Amino acid sequence: MMKKLDSCLKESQHYNSVVSNTMSRLTRRDYTFKSGRVPLKLPKGTFVTAPATAMHLCEKNYGPDATEWKGFRFTGILAVDKNAHQAVATNAVATNTKYLAFSHGRHVCPGRFFAVNELKMVLTYTLLRYDIRLPAIGTKGGQRIHMLLEGDR
Ligand code: HEM
Repeated sequence: MMKKLDSCLKESQHYNSVVSNTMSRLTRRDYTFKSGRVPLKLPKGTFVTAPATAMHLCEKNYGPDATEWKGFRFTGILAVDKNAHQAVATNAVATNTKYLAFSHGRHVCPGRFFAVNELKMVLTYTLLRYDIRLPAIGTKGGQRIHMLLEGDR
C-alpha cells in the first residue's frame, strides 16, 4: 500500500464517483429488513439501490468537510470512523458501508485491484515524466473539474 497515493485515489472516487448509485438489485422474492427501527418490507420485484454519492457527501458519514476534496482524508479516517481499521480504511481497494465507489458486499467490484494498480502506474509515470498544472478553467467558484478523454481523430 502507498498510504498517501491510496488515500488520494480513494478520495477522487469519494468526491466524484464514476457511479452515483451502486448495489442496484431487483428482489426475486419478498424480503424484510429487520435491522432498522421498523422492519422494512420489500415485495418481490422491487428495485433497490445504494446512493453512493449521497453517502459519500453526507456530513454524518464524513464530517463537516464531506463535500470538499481532501487528498489525505483517508489517511486520518479514524477521526471520523472509530470502527474502521486504519490500514483497511486507507487502502484504495477497501470498501465499507460508507465507501461505495466499488460497491460493497458479495458483488463488490472484483476488478478494483487491477484498476487501482493501473491508476498508480499511470500516475507514477505521469509524475516522473511530466510537469503538470491545472488549467485556469474549472478552478473558479468551487466548480468541479472533470476529465475528458478524447479518442484519436
Ligand atoms: C475505477 C474502475 C472501476 C470502478 C469504479 C468499478 C465499479 C464497479 C461497481 C460499482 C460495480 C457494481 C457492483 C455491484 O453491483 O454491487 C462493479 C462490478 C464489477 N466490476 Fe468493476 N469497477 C471498476 C473497474 C473494473 C475492472 C478494471 C474490471 C475488470 C477487469 C471490473 C470488473 C467488474 C465485474 C466483473 C463486476 C461484477 C461483479 C459481480 O456482479 O459480482 N471492474 N464495478
